[in-house]
This record gives sequence, structure tokens and C-alpha cells, in this order.
Amino acid sequence: MKKRWWHNSVAYQVYPKSFLDTNNDGIGDLRGITEKLDYLHELGIDVLWISPFFKSPMKDNGYDISDYKEIDPIFGTMRDFDEMLEKANQLGIRILVDLVVNHTSDEHDWFEESRQSKDNPKRDWYIWKDGKQPNNWRSCFGGSVWEYDEKTDSSYFHYFHKGQPCLNWENKEVRDTIFEMINWWLDKGIGGFRVDAIEVIKKTRLDENFEVDAADGLASAYPGCRLVKGIELFLSEMAEKTFNQYDIMTIAEADIRIEDQELWTGPNGFFDMAFQFKSSKLDTELGFWHRPRTFDLLEYKEAIASEQYPLNDQTWAAVWLENHDVPRSITKYLGNDSPLEAHKMLGASYFFLRGTPFIYQGQEIGMRNIRYSSIVQYDDIASIDQYDRAIEEGYTNEQALGFVYNRSRDNTRYPMQWDNSKNYGFSKTDPWLEINTEFPEITVENALKDQSSLLYFYKDMISLRKSEEFKELFSYGTFEMILDKDPSIFAYLRIYDDKKVLVINNFTDRLVLLNLDYKVNKVLLNNIENDDININEIRPYQSLVLDVE
Ligand code: NOJ
Ligand code: CA
Repeated sequence: MKKRWWHNSVAYQVYPKSFLDTNNDGIGDLRGITEKLDYLHELGIDVLWISPFFKSPMKDNGYDISDYKEIDPIFGTMRDFDEMLEKANQLGIRILVDLVVNHTSDEHDWFEESRQSKDNPKRDWYIWKDGKQPNNWRSCFGGSVWEYDEKTDSSYFHYFHKGQPCLNWENKEVRDTIFEMINWWLDKGIGGFRVDAIEVIKKTRLDENFEVDAADGLASAYPGCRLVKGIELFLSEMAEKTFNQYDIMTIAEADIRIEDQELWTGPNGFFDMAFQFKSSKLDTELGFWHRPRTFDLLEYKEAIASEQYPLNDQTWAAVWLENHDVPRSITKYLGNDSPLEAHKMLGASYFFLRGTPFIYQGQEIGMRNIRYSSIVQYDDIASIDQYDRAIEEGYTNEQALGFVYNRSRDNTRYPMQWDNSKNYGFSKTDPWLEINTEFPEITVENALKDQSSLLYFYKDMISLRKSEEFKELFSYGTFEMILDKDPSIFAYLRIYDDKKVLVINNFTDRLVLLNLDYKVNKVLLNNIENDDININEIRPYQSLVLDVE
């Protein structure tokens, strides 16, 4: 396999609004990121994905862009960006920008023009149909995918919020303009892109009604938008005209089909890797938060294996536990009262999988979900919509808030907990989203003072992945799950040439006896201190990374 600079990287995601506020207006900013680059460098991070910071009315916190080439004033200026980029590059940290090209904001000039008249030159840049509700599809954040516009007695299509009209990728001018914008950013020297919602850029069956699936009388739009045949043409054109001209790293946000791994991430693939959702979306039915499902380790392992096994020496993956769209992993998989060993184990369970590991801000110190007492305290549009839907389905306020607590995107969006001062050092002013007062002891400051903290465990995991002795194995080694029918243990082998590493994780609070036949050469990592390890007696929540034969 051709070697790439990012093959041994460990990436970190920043949600800029909530990372660090340096001018005390209550909102995180680019200078805040620059200030914390040393912290990230110290941790061992060498790729940084930053969620959108472009000009935006912030209906979906920046995933609704009104100018792709401007920094939103709440985050700072282009000079701040250039300074951040320069310092990052000096530290050997490559910056990945969030590329949001399925849609723009409804306040983007292109859309303002498009809505003026049916014969406006930009009319076809978006998806318009005559009349009020051309079909019964539901948008991601609730309500119809169609928004009626009186001015021309027609409706525009929005897969996400009505403030996020979908661009019409069938239009060549649209594609060319996007490609030009992509290259404009690449020429600035960024390290690449995380590519938002790219699996839904092509639409089909827009004239059809789908079978109603909930009390709102609508149907999910996903089948008409996800991985529609022909999307390959757009994606290969994009790769050819932009990404392939640079030595960068790209990650598609896309639940690609297992059989498409090579097409998407192979040597001539559209991207380098993808963020997939097969294991993360098991906690609800069809994405309805009021239809929760209980965690089942066997099902979880199967989902992970289904993403790992298709990988070969031509393809790549991204592995992750948290991002700005999902709950905190400790709350989700272990419960808030679980012990520190369990948090380390959860980290190790995904960190040594095949692919590039991503850490989301605050994950490294064990931040948990946030409990707001009223729906008005939430900012996330998905939370508000899912709350309303639960009420519509007949649940009480308390029940609906319970669903939102488990699933809200604000769980990962409330301010980062840096130190023990006011607002955890995030800002001197009241932040844009209320802080979490439930876990005041969880701060970077405390973690740095304690050698046994989760933060140091993450640091150890990163060093191990990058160690001279094992970096080839963790980058290029094959994946093989063992004990796949064991309901308590999640274990796998990574194998490269004559080297073998075994990762064993006990997801329960009980001692688990095994019957394994490996000779242990060396203990590379053990989350339980001063423990005489026995490969066939795995302590509660124990995690072992072992060099074996
Ligand atoms: C996926 C992003 O991660 C999410 O935060 C956003 O709401 C949608 N795409 C729409 O851009
Ligand atoms: Ca600020």
C-alpha cells in the first residue's frame, strides 16, 4: 500500500463554539483553538478536524454556511485562521476543515438569488418544485423536506433544516463553483477535509410519496437521498478536480455499503476514509429518540466487525466513539456511575481498531451527558424536534426530556471543562450554552495533575500506537475478532508480518474466565494498576493490550 503521511496519525475534533472563548463573549473562537494547540500537541495529536467556522446565521451552528470564504465574526477573522494554521503546521498538526456542500444556508447569496424568480440564473442551483408539498418526506430535523416560498408559488427541498436548502448537484455550475472553493482552501495549506453529509448529495424519486412511518404523517427521506445511484459520478469528479491534486486527508461522513469500501476508500477512491454509523446508531430505532434500544455487546461487536472486516491493504477507515452529533460515550455505553477503569477500557476498545482513531473534545477527560431541566435550555434543533415528536406520540414532558437527555447533540456541545475556575475556564462570561454543573471534578486541570487519569491513559494509547515498535502493526495490521460470541468480552487481534497484538476488553463489572492459548511476550497496556496479569482471568472492566504469539 502506498504510504501516506496520515497513516499513523491520531486525530482530534474541535467544536469551535464550545472549545475556548478568548474574548469573553461566551462563544469559543479560533484564537481559543490556537491557544490550546500546545495541549493537543502534548497529548500526541497530529490531525485536527474543526467543525464549521464559516460565515453563518447559525441555525445549525455553522452547518448552514452563508459564505464559504469568510470566517464568521463570532469565531474571529481570516487572520486568526491563518495564525492558527501557521502555529499548527509548526507543531506538526494538520488542520482539517469541515466541508459542507450538500446544502448552504438560506441566507447564502446564491439562494437569495435562486428564490427571486423562476428564470433567475441561479434558480437551478437549488431543488425547486411547483406547489406546496410535492411529496410526504420528512426532513432530518422534522417537518416536510419542502419549504413553500410564496414569491414563486413553489417549494425548495431541504434534507436538513429549512435554513439549509440542498444544492442541486446535477447542475454543472454548482459543482464547478464548489470545486473552485475547495481548491481555494487547499491552496491555503490545510491538511484536508471532513466532508459533511456527502452520502445524500444526489436525490431520486422526488415525485413519490413514501409509506408514512410516524404520527406526523410523514416518511423518512433517507431512502430517496442516501447513496443514490449515480452519486459516484459526482464524487469521482470532485476527487479528480480537487482532492487528488493535493497530498491531503479526506474523511467522508457516509454510511457506505460494505461492498463499496474499495470504491470509496481504495486507491482510486473518492475519499481516504469514511465515518460510518453502523455501531453508533444501535441505540434507537430508525433514529427516533423515543424508540430507544438497550445496549447489547454482541450486536455492537457485530456492527464493528462489519466495518472492520471489509478493510484490506488497499482501503482505510476512521474509528471513533464521539462527535458533535452523538451523546457522550461513557453515559451511553457504561452509565455515569461507572468506574474509571471502565472509561479507560471503553477508550481502548476502539482505539486499536484498524483505521485512524478520532478523539472528540472532552472525551479524553471523560465528560458526560448534560441534564437540562427544560427543553428551552437546549439549543440543538434536533433535540427540540425530537422532543416535540415524543410529545406528539403521547409521551409526558418528563419522558420526552428523558429521551432528549440520552440522545441530545448538546451532550457533546456544552462548553469544554478546562480548569476549576468559573465556567471551567471556558469563558469569563455566561456561555452560549449552559455549562454542566453535575461533574465539577472533571477538568483538564485535574486530569493533568493525576498520573492515573483517563487523560494520561489516552496519552499512553497514543504513544503506543505511534511507538517505533508497533506503529506499522497498528497502521497496517489486519483485524481479527476473537471470542465473537462472548457477551462480556470485546477482543481482537491485530496482525502484521510476524507480530501479533491482542486487545481484550471486559465490558462487565464481573471477573470473566477465558480459555485462551496465547503466549504473552509483553504487556503493552493494562488499565488496572499493579495487576499480575492472567490472560484467562479478566478483571471487571479490565482492558489489556498484549504482545502475544
Ligand atoms: C452532519 C453534521 O455532523 C451535523 O451536525 C449537521 O447537522 C448535518 N450534517 C447537516 O449539516
Ligand atoms: Ca469568543
